[in-house]
Amino acid sequence: MRTTLFAKHKALPLAAVGVALLMAGGCERPPPQSTQLGYRGVGQIAFVNPRTLAALHEANIAPESLAPAVPIPVNAGSVYQNLQVLGDVPITEFTRQMSAIAEWVVPKDQWVNGQGCVYCHDLNNMAADTKYQKVVARSMIKMTKRANVDWKAHVAPSGVTCYTCHRGNAIPQYVWTTNPGEKPRASGYVGDQNRLSPVPAFASLPYDPLTTYFDQEKVVALTPKTAVSPIDPKTVNTKNAEGTYALMNYISKSLGVGCNHCHNSRQFADWAQSSPARVKGWYAIRMVREANKNFIMPLTDILPASRKGPLGDPMRVACETCHQGVNKPLFGAEMAKDYPALLTPPAPSPAPAAAPAAAAPPPAQVEAVPALEPKVTGVAGTASAVM
Ligand code: HEC
Ligand code: HEC
Ligand code: HEC
Ligand code: HEC
Repeated sequence: MRTTLFAKHKALPLAAVGVALLMAGGCERPPPQSTQLGYRGVGQIAFVNPRTLAALHEANIAPESLAPAVPIPVNAGSVYQNLQVLGDVPITEFTRQMSAIAEWVVPKDQWVNGQGCVYCHDLNNMAADTKYQKVVARSMIKMTKRANVDWKAHVAPSGVTCYTCHRGNAIPQYVWTTNPGEKPRASGYVGDQNRLSPVPAFASLPYDPLTTYFDQEKVVALTPKTAVSPIDPKTVNTKNAEGTYALMNYISKSLGVGCNHCHNSRQFADWAQSSPARVKGWYAIRMVREANKNFIMPLTDILPASRKGPLGDPMRVACETCHQGVNKPLFGAEMAKDYPALLTPPAPSPAPAAAPAAAAPPPAQVEAVPALEPKVTGVAGTASAVM
């Protein structure tokens, strides 16, 4: 009896040490650093671990730009036979741009005699469009130009190059296709959620918000504008709320940020309390929809099956394709400015719509900044849902 009691006493401090060690093991080293993102006291604070941040920096370094081309006042289009998008580029800059494209998109094991050109070109006839890769690349050039010219509200000043997504891979590391899910089973209704998926960051939420919100123009907003708004069960319902949260989880994960990078979590819907980053996000959602619809989906018939999902749809772009876990791709490296061929307009197309305005006063000037009334877009209850 005595010995047992004694043993118990001894065990207690030991257990305490063990628990303390376990807890210390769960702490992050070195301690995270915090940055205030919004008004004082509203919890808009970002935490980063300097160690993981350093690793992320290392994995997201932009390559050095190629040496500038010797300027020659002869356009490539007056020399080559089949230029549909780069005809107005001076010929030396054109050749430089082709070399850069090979570096950015063609994996080194596909190079022949030190050249990546053969991935897209029939070397006996450079003008021929025989390889599907060349046809895809032409659409990609248009997509990249479109982003740099017409989506400045999202991508400036960094801009976009093929490297932003490809990083030396033929297929960017982060692409997506429609997830067909599994057939409903007799054991109960599964709907489109509660299956392990990295897209909504493994949350128990709909597993394919990308098809829902990027293939369709489904309304993301779900909060009625006023307390007495007529509730439209087509837009304001639990299923749509779960869809919105699945999309938001994906967005946060893609950028490596918390919800409060964009929102004041006391009122997710209110634009006046959101940060300017949320406005950037608003443009991004529209840009992604457009990029897939206009520049990737039309390639469906020419892409081989290995470039498509189980339902035969092409691999597409979303936030993670460019961002890769960082709030500004490649930590905001201004790479595109060195590639003027990618900065000039593509064939004329309509300008994107305007985003709602957001106010994000720097903490010191809180009183001076008036609240802005957002220009109305996608307000729940006024627009009807697609699904
Ligand atoms: C990722 C695909 C891709 C790679 C790699 C590539 N090109 Fe191209 N190339 C294209 C596309 C697309 C066009 C057509 C552009 C247009 O329509 O304006 C083109 C057009 C050309 C043309 C014009 C041919 C003509 O007469 O119409 C030449 C020359 C050329 N490329 C040279 C090169 C060289 C040299 C390399 C390697 C350093 C290279 N390309 C690598 C996609 C590629
Ligand atoms: C916003 C992201 C993004 C940018 C920027 C981008 N691409 Fe792509 N690219 C993709 C995606 C997604 C695919 C996969 C399409 C598919 O095969 O379904 C792809 C596929 C390709 C392929 C097909 C490769 C293969 O082996 O099937 C080529 C070639 C290509 N891109 C060239 C380019 C060039 C050249 C540029 C720059 C002018 C560029 N891309 C810019 C996202 C991007
Ligand atoms: C990169 C910026 C960004 C991040 C990070 C972000 N959101 Fe959003 N959120 C937006 C944008 C933009 C919209 C509006 C989209 C639209 O209307 O097309 C939105 C809309 C919403 C809405 C709907 C508001 C309404 O009008 O009813 C909710 C709820 C929401 N977000 C929650 C979250 C949560 C929860 C997180 C974290 C998991 C999060 N958001 C992370 C940008 C962001
Ligand atoms: C074609 C590539 C591309 C895609 C796709 C993309 N972005 Fe971006 N995004 C950029 C670039 C480039 C910047 C940096 C702009 C700058 O220099 O400030 C940026 C910046 C941002 C910022 C501002 C960062 C900050 O902290 O101020 C937000 C927020 C953002 N993106 C959200 C999104 C969301 C949400 C999506 C998906 C719906 C998305 N982006 C898709 C290229 C992209």
